[in-house]
Amino acid sequence: MENRPDWTDEQWYAADLTSVAGVERLRFFPQVVASGAGSVLTTPEGREVIDLSASWTATGLGHAHPDVVAAAERALRAAPGGSVLSGTHPDAVLLARALCERVEVTAPAGERRAYLGHAGTDANDVALRAARHVTGRAGIVAFEGGYHGGLGASQSVSGLHISGGTTADPDLTLVPYPDVYRPWQDSAETLLADTLARVEAALADGSVAAVLVEPIQSDGGVLVPPDGFLAGLREATSRHGALLVIDEVKVGLGRTGHFLAHHAEGVVPDLVTLGKALGNGLPVSALVGPASALDEPAASALMTTIGNPVSCAAALAVLELLDDGTLAASAARLGEQATETIRGFAAGDRPGAAHVGQVRGRGLSVGIELVRPGTQEPADDLAAKTAFAGWSNGVVAYPVRGNVLEITPPLTITPAELQTGLERLLAALDAAACGEVADEDVAAFSGW
Ligand SMILES: Cc1ncc(COP(=O)(O)O)c(C=O)c1O
Repeated sequence: MENRPDWTDEQWYAADLTSVAGVERLRFFPQVVASGAGSVLTTPEGREVIDLSASWTATGLGHAHPDVVAAAERALRAAPGGSVLSGTHPDAVLLARALCERVEVTAPAGERRAYLGHAGTDANDVALRAARHVTGRAGIVAFEGGYHGGLGASQSVSGLHISGGTTADPDLTLVPYPDVYRPWQDSAETLLADTLARVEAALADGSVAAVLVEPIQSDGGVLVPPDGFLAGLREATSRHGALLVIDEVKVGLGRTGHFLAHHAEGVVPDLVTLGKALGNGLPVSALVGPASALDEPAASALMTTIGNPVSCAAALAVLELLDDGTLAASAARLGEQATETIRGFAAGDRPGAAHVGQVRGRGLSVGIELVRPGTQEPADDLAAKTAFAGWSNGVVAYPVRGNVLEITPPLTITPAELQTGLERLLAALDAAACGEVADEDVAAFSGW
């Protein structure tokens, strides 16, 4: 540590651009962070910034949560090898058991298994293969605007990537996600019926292994589906012998006010994927499902450090912290605070107000859709400029689907921090709406 260069924030960022591969950058402003605590990030120069993203929900319980740090430290010092590949260790066993107990799927607890991976991407990849293996079918139904991973199979069924140019899986059918936030479109009932009819049509010939769905479409614009959507998918998949795979990577683990977001509808999926917040910043993911889907073929989903002891210990601590439901209940309350604050802003006469087309979400998964005043026309440039100005103002929030600012702070954020963070973001929106952010300022940040 002592030998580190004493660079400014700008120097660190410039050095990143000439050393870290561009393929793994998704940048909206020149963010450099030296440390974090709770919901506050600190830059190398010592500037404090409120994190309304929680690193895209990966630090769901806040940066450096003391229980998670203690668990990870303990596991790092104990050092029982690197994985569960050719031998096991207590943290992996306890984590797998904890997941099987807590995540209800279509098999009794004793007949469930948990795959322990590194990221949402590999958890969804393994889910797709498990569904294909167990059904002997190739087809996958997923949704336009969906995001399931940044590489390989998971990327090839992600509607967002496909519209961005990635090659689609040859056996994929993409169906529009039911977007009830288009008031000029059909009613929620008609939209739901239309979506389910499209899924039904895709399932009809018996070639579909799985329907893969986000319980709230997050990167696709923070879309909460109409009631009955997941239940309809459950009913249709069961009838056609396909699996229902629910991707809880982004909104699971307390964020929506429920332990898992799909609990709002009470459905029981066949497979559930988890990631991001599971390790509270450490790389760990999971896929929970019936042993019949996840035990075979043996040795077919291997990475050297899967079930890594440090990641497993952290994940176990995260699950224990969520157990009494206090954090989920607080996420529901804080979500109301956030939506009320933003709606209050939108009803006022500050410069940014007329640009707020909609405020939506569930719990601490909130989206602010930005539009051209008086229209429904998306204002992608304004979202990019607001996020950019937000960073200078001391807040982190990212745009999704172009024109939606996503608010997903750590569940541990205090009401006062949330309020300050939102005030900074809304001030940034005012500044962007007044033309205070130039096109050249954001030109270097291509985002998605
Ligand atoms: C719903 C969902 N699934 C899967 C993933 C992929 O997870 P990861 O980036 O950890 O591979 C993401 C990431 O944004 C996501 O939002």
